[in-house]
Amino acid sequence: MKTSLTGIKPTGTPHIGNYLGAIKPALELAESYRSLYFIADYHAFTSNHDPKSMRSDVYDVAATWLACGLDPARTILYRQSHIPEVFELTWIFDCLLAAGQLERGHAYKDAIAHGESPNAGIFNYPALMAADIVLFDCNIVPVGKDQKQHIELARDVATRLNHLFGEGTVVVPEIKYEESLLVPGVDGRKMSKSYNNYIPVFASAKELRSGVMKIVTGSEGLADPKEAEGTTVFQLYCAIATPAQANEMAVKLKKGGYGWGHAKQDLYEALEAELGPSREKYAALRADEKALDRILEDGAVRAREISLKTIDRVRRAIGLR
Ligand code: ADP
Ligand code: TRP
Repeated sequence: MKTSLTGIKPTGTPHIGNYLGAIKPALELAESYRSLYFIADYHAFTSNHDPKSMRSDVYDVAATWLACGLDPARTILYRQSHIPEVFELTWIFDCLLAAGQLERGHAYKDAIAHGESPNAGIFNYPALMAADIVLFDCNIVPVGKDQKQHIELARDVATRLNHLFGEGTVVVPEIKYEESLLVPGVDGRKMSKSYNNYIPVFASAKELRSGVMKIVTGSEGLADPKEAEGTTVFQLYCAIATPAQANEMAVKLKKGGYGWGHAKQDLYEALEAELGPSREKYAALRADEKALDRILEDGAVRAREISLKTIDRVRRAIGLR
């Protein structure tokens, strides 16, 4: 059975863009792959030095994924910081990567271009991510397009290690990303925490509705015919509704007599139908941090059964055993 692995950076409340663009597709993959999904808390530490929010962001992510349907008996769910082998392999990769490759990392390069002085964690971010991936003999890594460069670097360093120290020492991962799906936020730009234009996955029904009602629309009147294509409400509706429902909305808009308020109400109802039933489950999971710890610790034990074997193979291959 092939392995799917992905890391989720705990950086604030997960939103509908994360749900549709990352959580849902990864959970679908978990049905046909051995799956390892982890909370990338050490990656979050490159930018979050507040212990209180770090703690709560980790639990938010774990409870969200579980409430969205992650089955911890089937998917190995763990925290990156529970896997010490990640650091060992990061160092090994650091010594195999050219510094120039890390200098070209987009996060590091952007920070330098903006005149910031990024910490060395930002510089090494891609090496840590390569270690996350390669430790688990993983075949596919479902990620957004923004992570493509990181996966390519992981493939590159894994290939180099095999070339220098023996083919088959580590598994070279593939990338799987969804090119087409980009969920817009309420202002029409990409939904993102950094734009503050997002709707949280588990907002209350009232907050969900008021989030949807904030979406920017054209100023056509109720009776006017409206073009659905390219509008934020319609893009969001397409991401959540069936193709038949989406087509129905486009037809109604075109005909006139169906206003943006009606379209938003239909969008709200579709979102509520998808997310509403899991809301209570989320609240119950999030309220019991001890139970979340137990799930994450159990995941780490199972994950280390794999990572300890990989690191042993690597140590032997490079002459450290
Ligand atoms: P943010 O931009 O809010 O900080 P992240 O970078 O933490 O979001 O996103 C985590 C993952 O969720 C990304 O790898 C990406 O695949 C997915 N994702 C985030 N925002 C969107 C979006 N607007 N549409 C589709 N997928 C998204
Ligand atoms: N860098 C990824 C992000 O920002 C998170 C991540 C860390 C990751 N390690 C990973 C994703 C390994 C896939 C595989 O979204």
